[in-house]
Amino acid sequence: MAATLTKQDELPARSGLKPVSIGRDLRGIAELVEVCFAGRLDSQGRAAVREMKTLAQFFPLLWILSALETLLPGVGVGAGVGYVWRDEGRLIGNASLYRAGAHPVLGPGWLIANVAVAPDYRRRGVARTMMHATLDRARRFGGQWAALQVETNNLGAVYLYDSLGFQRYEQLTQWEAVSLRTGHRPQPVTNQWIIRRREPGEFKEAMDFVLNRARRGAMAWTLPLSRSDFSDFPLGARSTGRDRWVLIDPAAPNRFQAVLWVEAATWSRTKMTLFVDPEYQNTEAVCALLSYVLYSPSIRSRVVRLEVETISEAVSSMLRGSGFRLLRTLYQMRLAI
Ligand SMILES: CC(C)(COP(=O)(O)OP(=O)(O)OC[C@H]1O[C@@H](n2cnc3c(N)ncnc32)[C@H](O)[C@@H]1OP(=O)(O)O)[C@@H](O)C(=O)NCCC(=O)NCCS
Repeated sequence: MAATLTKQDELPARSGLKPVSIGRDLRGIAELVEVCFAGRLDSQGRAAVREMKTLAQFFPLLWILSALETLLPGVGVGAGVGYVWRDEGRLIGNASLYRAGAHPVLGPGWLIANVAVAPDYRRRGVARTMMHATLDRARRFGGQWAALQVETNNLGAVYLYDSLGFQRYEQLTQWEAVSLRTGHRPQPVTNQWIIRRREPGEFKEAMDFVLNRARRGAMAWTLPLSRSDFSDFPLGARSTGRDRWVLIDPAAPNRFQAVLWVEAATWSRTKMTLFVDPEYQNTEAVCALLSYVLYSPSIRSRVVRLEVETISEAVSSMLRGSGFRLLRTLYQMRLAI
C-alpha cells in the first residue's frame, strides 16, 4: 500500500512519530537498519544488528531495559532514546539518540545515529520530522550539542543535516591494514621531528590539542570524546594495550603537532586514531610518526584500523604503500542546541 503513495500524498492518519520503546521497537529498528544501510555496514555494524535482533527476543530483559531508559535516558542500550515512525504498525523510520556524556569543552551532549527511512517512504519529510523531535528531546534532557557522522558520498543525508544547521567539522578517513607490508622504522628524533610517548602530566596539553584544535567535531570512531580518553593512567602498551604518542617540532618544543592514540581492540587487532594540527604542514613528520608506531615490534603483525582527518596525498600514499585500504570517508557534524 505504502509504495503507491506519491510525494504529494498525505501520510496515512495512523502514521506517526513515537518515542522509541525498546521492548516494542528493537527488532523493527534492527530490520530497518539492515535494509537501509545494506552495503554500508561493516562487520561491526552487522554484529550490532545481530545483537539487537538477539536482544529483541528476550522480552523480560527488554522490559527491564525500557524501565531503565525511562529513569536514565540514554543508558546506551541498542536503540537509544530517539524516535521511530510507524505506519499501520510497520516501523518505517528511526533516529536513535545516545547520551554522549560531558565533553570537557562543550558540556553535555548527545549523539544521533541510525537515521533511516524505509525506501518506499522517502522524500516526504519523515527524516526531517524525526530529526526535529530527536533534537528537541536532546535539548529537554539538558544537551547543549548534538553530533553525528555521515559518509561524505551519502548526499541525501548530508543535505538533510546541512539543512538542519549541522556544521561540518573534520572530514575523517578510516583505513584498515590486514597485514602490514614490510616497512622502515624512522628515527624518533631528527632535526625535523621528535616522536615520543606522551608523558604523564601532559594530559591537559593533550586534551587542549585534541578538543580545541584537532577534533572539534567531538567524536572519534563514532564515539564521543571524553575526559577519560586523556587520563594519565593506564598508559603504556605493554601493560594495557593503550598508548599515546606525540609529534613535536623541535622549533616549537612546547606544542604538540600531532597525537596518535593506540588501543588494542582485540588480541589481534589494534585501533589507532591520529589527530593532526590543521595548520601543521610537515607531512613527512606525520608519516614518520605513523611509520614509527606501525612498525614497532608490538604492532607490525597485527590487523590495524586507523582513523585520521583527510590528509595530504603524501600521507594517503604512505598508508597505501604500507598495506592500508580506505574503508570510508566521513563528515564529522555538530550542532549547538
Ligand atoms: C537519508 C534518509 C534518512 C532521508 O530520509 P527522508 O525521509 O527521505 O528525508 P526527508 O524527506 O525528511 O528529507 C529532508 C531533506 O533531506 C534532503 N534529502 C533527503 N534525501 C535526499 C536525496 N535522496 N537527495 C537529495 N536530498 C535529499 C533534502 O534536502 C530533503 O528536503 P526536501 O525534500 O525538502 O528537498 C533516507 O534517504 C535513508 O534512510 N537513507 C538510507 C540510510 C542513510 O543513509 N541514513 C543516513 C545515515 S547518516
